[in-house]
Amino acid sequence: MKKTTKPLMNFPSRKPLAKAVSLFSAVGLSALLSSGLQAQQVADQVAPEAASQRSENRAHIAKDFIVAAANPYAVEAGYQVLKEGGSAIDAMVTVQTVLGLTEPQSSGLGGGAFMLYYDAKKRQLTTFDGRETAPLAATPELFQDKDGKPLKFFDAVVGGRSVGTPGTVKLMSDTHQRFGKLDWARLLQPAKQLAEDGFIVSPRLAGAITKDQDRLSRYPDTRDYFFTADGKPLPEGYRLTNKDYAETLGLLAKEGAEAFYHGKIGQELVRKVQGITDNPGLLTENDLKSYRIKERPAVCAPYRSYDVCGMGPPSSGALTVGQILGIVASFDLKSLGADNPKSWQIIGDASRLAFADRGRYMADTDYVPMPQGLLDAGYLKQRAELIQPGKPLDTVEAGEPAWSQPIALADDISLELPSTSHLVIVDREGNIVSMTTTIENGFGSRVMSGGFLLNNELTDFSFASHKNGFPIANRLEPGKRPRSSMAPTLVMKDGKPYLAIGSPGGSRIIGYVASALIAHLDWGMSLQDAISKPHLINRFGTFDLEAGTSAEKLKAPLEVMGYKVSVRDLNSGLHGVLFKDGKLIGAADPRREGIVLGD
Ligand code: GLY
Repeated sequence: MKKTTKPLMNFPSRKPLAKAVSLFSAVGLSALLSSGLQAQQVADQVAPEAASQRSENRAHIAKDFIVAAANPYAVEAGYQVLKEGGSAIDAMVTVQTVLGLTEPQSSGLGGGAFMLYYDAKKRQLTTFDGRETAPLAATPELFQDKDGKPLKFFDAVVGGRSVGTPGTVKLMSDTHQRFGKLDWARLLQPAKQLAEDGFIVSPRLAGAITKDQDRLSRYPDTRDYFFTADGKPLPEGYRLTNKDYAETLGLLAKEGAEAFYHGKIGQELVRKVQGITDNPGLLTENDLKSYRIKERPAVCAPYRSYDVCGMGPPSSGALTVGQILGIVASFDLKSLGADNPKSWQIIGDASRLAFADRGRYMADTDYVPMPQGLLDAGYLKQRAELIQPGKPLDTVEAGEPAWSQPIALADDISLELPSTSHLVIVDREGNIVSMTTTIENGFGSRVMSGGFLLNNELTDFSFASHKNGFPIANRLEPGKRPRSSMAPTLVMKDGKPYLAIGSPGGSRIIGYVASALIAHLDWGMSLQDAISKPHLINRFGTFDLEAGTSAEKLKAPLEVMGYKVSVRDLNSGLHGVLFKDGKLIGAADPRREGIVLGD
């Protein structure tokens, strides 16, 4: 049952984009010569998760514990867990299950996640890979038509075909068994209660439903959930109940993750995926039964006097962020300053070089070999020597990092679009969770089961398996995990946690995280300002500048340099916590609905 009522939950007050933090002073055009740069961008012509109006959030300072995430209901529920003495992992379980209800377009039980976990007592950082896997019956041709041509993106996304084996429930359960303090059922209770009583549809969710209404109305269960009885997209302020989700959480509370991977929830999910008549998927109960969380060592890269640590393959996040920072380390960005187009040309070209390596080499290393030298200081110095301040690179190609057994690979042509959510939690003992969680595209595959949306993570694989006769590292293979850009990060200083951060945003995640780190570490911005500052992102040649912000002032100088420039929404969702002088300073991205709470 659904009914409309007055909002119960306050979303951060909204202000127009023009009020956004102003980063750039007026920029001179002088002395910048056109270089005849060839734009190389290959991706992202399709609308991402809908943008919502910008709302200025403030940093929140705490002493004992803190939680920063993308939705006020989720943050409030996680805060209560921490207040009750729960661990960071306990709070993560609660935050994730509430996000799956109140921010269903971005992450949930039907998706996957990467989590960094810092164990305060052991002073140890580890990472957990809860990434979806390709069904064992899948072949590299899954996203090709009968002539071997790649499918159109949304023909691949919408339906059962794109659904990988979800990992989020097992990630929550496995880590709760190791690091949890409070009872599992108690942790699921806030989301269950909210699903039964109803939650208020936020402005962002309402906007996303309206934008996606054609695709959301394709399958009856999804349509029934996201539309009113008279067929209208759910409006902002609507109180939405989710009986199926409450039942799913009830089963999980009683039977644990078994109910998902060996029981009723999984059986129903598989039936749904296989039963989609216009675009069925290959997922089986066996895929669920054989799913495993992988604990992997963190990938760390030095930057200035810090170590920037994150998630290694199958994510390209830490390696690509680490390469960008390792390349810009050769330049004095501090002196150049945040409002200098040369700074952004250096960062932009460093990013293009790193993305070229990412496209060639980075994928699930349990399936494909990868060069060992991607983060070697000497290699990154060589890459930095390619960059000439003031003159963008004409062409960008993958480099030749050290590799003990090199194989010839073709560059990747996979298309990633942003949805996703990032959360940071610190508990009273100082344990830290930095987790990026996703169902891939906004609303994932648009297939619902058990009150939650199923992912379309398999479209993060390259649709083509070979190019010019050479294999693509991120080709689809049975059981393999698609390459991700998610970059949950923990910056260490002198062996101690300094800053936990991450963002949604598809392959732009990498630029959002890298430039927030540069803004804070080089330009001395507060964490909130580093998160709020206007975005300038370059992955494949085109410079994306955040519309409606002072980043637009750099359009002319970057064009004069020779870049192709696109002014557009840049829809990050950075959340972070800084550890400073015994305080926990949390910050939330003003572009989304997130908040920070802590004591
Ligand atoms: N699906 C978004 C990512 O994994 O990067």
